[in-house]
Amino acid sequence: MSRLIVVSNRTPGKGPAAGGLAIALRKTLAEREGFWFGWSGRLVDQPDREARFEDIDGLSVAQIDLTRDDHHDYYAGFSNSILWPSFHLRLDLATIEAHWYEGYRRVNVQFARALLPLLKPDDVIWVHDYHLMPLASELRNLGARNRIGFYLHIPFPTSDALYAIPHHNDLMRDLSRYDLVGMQAKRDVAAFTEFADHQSPSSLSGNPLKSVDFSRTEVDSFPIGSDPDAFARLSVSPAATKMVKRMERVLREQKLILGVDRLDYSKGLPQRVEAYEKLLANNSRFRRQVHMLQVAPPSRDTIKEYQETSDALDAMCGRVMGRFAEPDWQPLTYVKRAYGQPSLAGLYRLAKVALVTPLRDGMNLVAHEYVGSQNPADPGVLVLSRFAGAAEIFDGAIEVNPFDTDETAEALRIALDMPLDERIDRWTRLMHAAREHNVDAWAARFLERLAPATTAGSGTRDILYLASVA
Ligand code: F6P
Repeated sequence: MSRLIVVSNRTPGKGPAAGGLAIALRKTLAEREGFWFGWSGRLVDQPDREARFEDIDGLSVAQIDLTRDDHHDYYAGFSNSILWPSFHLRLDLATIEAHWYEGYRRVNVQFARALLPLLKPDDVIWVHDYHLMPLASELRNLGARNRIGFYLHIPFPTSDALYAIPHHNDLMRDLSRYDLVGMQAKRDVAAFTEFADHQSPSSLSGNPLKSVDFSRTEVDSFPIGSDPDAFARLSVSPAATKMVKRMERVLREQKLILGVDRLDYSKGLPQRVEAYEKLLANNSRFRRQVHMLQVAPPSRDTIKEYQETSDALDAMCGRVMGRFAEPDWQPLTYVKRAYGQPSLAGLYRLAKVALVTPLRDGMNLVAHEYVGSQNPADPGVLVLSRFAGAAEIFDGAIEVNPFDTDETAEALRIALDMPLDERIDRWTRLMHAAREHNVDAWAARFLERLAPATTAGSGTRDILYLASVA
């Protein structure tokens, strides 16, 4: 079997919590030969050209350092102030500084130059996420002939939002140099197809751009999942049980409503708290009977829009506390820090309702983890945004429009009042879907399409590229 080279911005176990991606891929890579390649988490004045290998929990990880300026332009700048808001249809929150694109490309060139000497001809390369869209182009420009796949963990934007991104045609041409492009959901593939079918020039100046030729690139949806059975085990582990006991002492008879999200404007956190406020306002019988816990570890907090989201959430939580709290009852707890998986699994198991209500989300693995952690004899209810990729597979959830806080408040009421037999029926369907789409199935499906066992290795693809790039 050919080696697998996973490439992502963050590598596992380094820097701030690597999140769902690292967790998902650690397992796949542990099962076959290869290594993980990415940024070390270190900023230096003069990065080495060569990557350093390190063994991290049995995984071989090759890493490069970046300069502070390049990292800023590539990560906080182009990736997270332009691509992230645009791909999440929040152009109002995008900041466009043209020079960031140069830093973004520079870092992709640096990745390609450091990775190329490490490659064998039949290695299969799997590139992850929006930070690294140009990587296949840069590798192919240096002569790489390998099969290269790309997986987008965030939603693909509508054509209008895409056109607002500087150099969007270059980026789409970069995507056309992958053998396989994977997206989370069918709606993302539909948006991509819409763009591919109706491309228009990207610039007012210069030569009219030729449309991008996607005829050599396969594009399909591969919904990512978690490991629901591992969460089922974790949710009854001693560490999880400790958390459950701690919470039960405080909650007593109150039902727990839980949200777990990075502190990101795409997660719809102020809207979620407003929906909870409406639940309490419209249904006084729930006061003292419920408690909302929002876990929201800070994220990308050097970026102004993230600081503003944090401030907006502080204000919303303060408002609900001021309106409903009593000396001996608090309606909500808001925790701005990250918890480990065992503690989270305990919280998931205890929660009667999970509020997973992003305004737009690639998949949302919290939904999967919540489902996996439930007690089959007394499961909780998943309230899920119809704008999360997870909505395409989880028909057992109560689906809501997260912009409509009245609707979310009503969904909360229905969830809290739901009889046991309906909860079991819905959860059984959810767990079936979570298992069917678990992380192993996801990786296996993608890799089988990228490099079927019989055809792995270099092919004629590079000749076609030269023709299409000229
Ligand atoms: O959702 C996209 C994603 O890149 C995830 O894979 C990851 O968990 C999350 O964003 C964290 O982002 P960052 O690396 O910017 O902290």
